[in-house]
Amino acid sequence: MTMDVKKAELHCHIEGAASPELVRTQAQKYGADVSGFIQGDRYVWSDFTEFLTAYDGAAALFRTEEDYALLARTYLEGIAAQNAIYAEIFVSPDHATAAGLSASAYIDGLADGIAAAKSATGIECRMIVVGVRHLGVESVEAAARFAASRPHPLITGFGMAGEERFGRVAEFARSFDIARDAGLGITIHAGELAGADSVRDALDHVRPSRIGHGVRAIEDENLVRRIAEEEVVLEVCPGSNMALKLFKTMAEHPFDQLRRAGVKVTLSSDDPPHFGSSIGHEYDLVAQTWGYDAATLTGFTRTSLEAAFVDEPTRAILLGQLS
Ligand code: ADE
Ligand code: ZN
Repeated sequence: MTMDVKKAELHCHIEGAASPELVRTQAQKYGADVSGFIQGDRYVWSDFTEFLTAYDGAAALFRTEEDYALLARTYLEGIAAQNAIYAEIFVSPDHATAAGLSASAYIDGLADGIAAAKSATGIECRMIVVGVRHLGVESVEAAARFAASRPHPLITGFGMAGEERFGRVAEFARSFDIARDAGLGITIHAGELAGADSVRDALDHVRPSRIGHGVRAIEDENLVRRIAEEEVVLEVCPGSNMALKLFKTMAEHPFDQLRRAGVKVTLSSDDPPHFGSSIGHEYDLVAQTWGYDAATLTGFTRTSLEAAFVDEPTRAILLGQLS
């Protein structure tokens, strides 16, 4: 339905983008059993904690540079076929090292996959290193130091994912200072599993230009006004939000309310095969729910590109593809 609309996504966890089919292939390669989290052609989980277990189980089956190159390439070529021209992927050195791969080999493998997808389809991609909140402050700081050491030119941002209800944002502020001082773009998951206070804490302590999700800011109208005024961009993942039961129906999802309040909203898939989402599906979902025309949908892509953690010449080229 929205096939002709050029798309960009800012929020996708690369380990969470591995299809059950690809994970099964990896499991065969390593002689592993995936029956605890994949049944048939589907991931199985029933709440966020179980989702994280499935996510970690899949990630544990990517163990070499080649494995990660295959994952990035497969994912990016898939979204290029949905008319995506740009993507940022969250990359998690903690998941690589847990699987026995060094952080630098992990990044090199992903970069190979990104290069292969670019030469096959033209899609442009950048990496955002994330720390995993529930692994604790030390771990997130180590991820920030790694990102700040600028191990690869395609790493342009730093963020934090994981269990939002773990710890207080203020405890992680130093990690974001380290990344910001190194010139990286800053985003943070907030307002997904926790409410408006979590988003406010993120704004106060981390000063991000973007927030991952942020949709539960809708619980506080002053906060919505602040987000609009400060022009903080929300990486909204409607399919993910519905799968995690944040809202009962799409009609109750706050995407359109936020948009009408002047908040800069964008669309992303988060962890596509876990949530039955994809960048194409997200554009379809909001178009079906609120009847947006092609120009409005392209506007979301423009907002994404304007907020992208990418160099200015590349941004100009990408924006030029929208006109
Ligand atoms: N890691 C992967 N997906 C996530 C999500 N939706 N929220 C927080 N952390 C995540
Ligand atoms: Zn996410």
